[in-house]
Amino acid sequence: MKCAELFNIAGQGAIVTGAGSGLGLAIAEALAESGARVTLLDVDAGRIAAETERLRTLGYAVRGEWVDVCDHVALGRAFDAAVAAHDRLDIVFANAGIDSGPGFVTGWAGSQRARNPDGALETYSDERWNRVIDVNLGGVFATLRAAARLMKPQRSGKLIVTTSVAAYQCEPAIGSAYMAAKAGAAHLMRCVALELAAFNITVNAIAPGFFVTNIGGGHAKNPDVQAAMAKLMPMHRVGFPDDIKGLALFLASPASAYLTGQQITIDGGWTLGVAD
Ligand SMILES: NC(=O)c1ccc[n+]([C@@H]2O[C@H](COP(=O)([O-])OP(=O)(O)OC[C@H]3O[C@@H](n4cnc5c(N)ncnc54)[C@H](O)[C@@H]3O)[C@@H](O)[C@H]2O)c1
Repeated sequence: MKCAELFNIAGQGAIVTGAGSGLGLAIAEALAESGARVTLLDVDAGRIAAETERLRTLGYAVRGEWVDVCDHVALGRAFDAAVAAHDRLDIVFANAGIDSGPGFVTGWAGSQRARNPDGALETYSDERWNRVIDVNLGGVFATLRAAARLMKPQRSGKLIVTTSVAAYQCEPAIGSAYMAAKAGAAHLMRCVALELAAFNITVNAIAPGFFVTNIGGGHAKNPDVQAAMAKLMPMHRVGFPDDIKGLALFLASPASAYLTGQQITIDGGWTLGVAD
């Protein structure tokens, strides 16, 4: 394959869950800008309608649909509708995710942390635990399953899961359900990669560090939070959704044809340690 073809996904069919905002929206945008036909799925009806319309006016081949990834039957129907509309399915991003409320300490910058009774294990509610596991792990399972059903017969496909550095590193300000779900999603990704490898379907994960999106009630949009977090980053800045586009395109394109079962961290060096 010529190098010029390595990142060519023009005309391919793609689905991105959680595409109404943040990283999923940036991923959908990157795929659409690269010529893919993209279905944006999200549980936020207003956002999905507005963003799909915005991308359409830019001339991209996109469509949007409301779906909750926890409704596995509706998700399967949304996949069928996407294939009917795009005539094919080549790329799927299992990206939808929610935060899990506070962890057992408060604060994000290291200096102002104190024990937080709301996030303590003994007060953590079943309701919150179940919803986080349902969306962040069950939703990934249902998305990968819906994709495998359609991709196995064609013996090709690219599946990408958004996990988190929280999949392998504990952050006590983040609720433990989130970390447990992300660790589960990372290992599920590996299991599915092994199962689907012989079908020429690659399955990988993106593990973001700290990105400015709407998750966690949009706390990352607070300039004070950004400044505090930037101090922890060896690259001296937090991540923005545009930063995810290159890695997303790499994992969705022929450039990553022989890469499977891998979780790639993108965090400005955060998990390396503090440089200065
Ligand atoms: N922002 C970060 O710092 C960060 C770090 C690590 C991992 N992540 C992961 O990145 C992914 C995207 O999050 P984001 O930061 O862009 O947040 P975001 O809130 O900006 O976007 C998440 C989108 O997912 C949608 N969504 C939530 N629950 C859904 C459901 N049940 N069904 C369908 N859609 C649903 C939301 O409506 C929203 O549009 C998540 O999996 C998140 O855990 C984010």
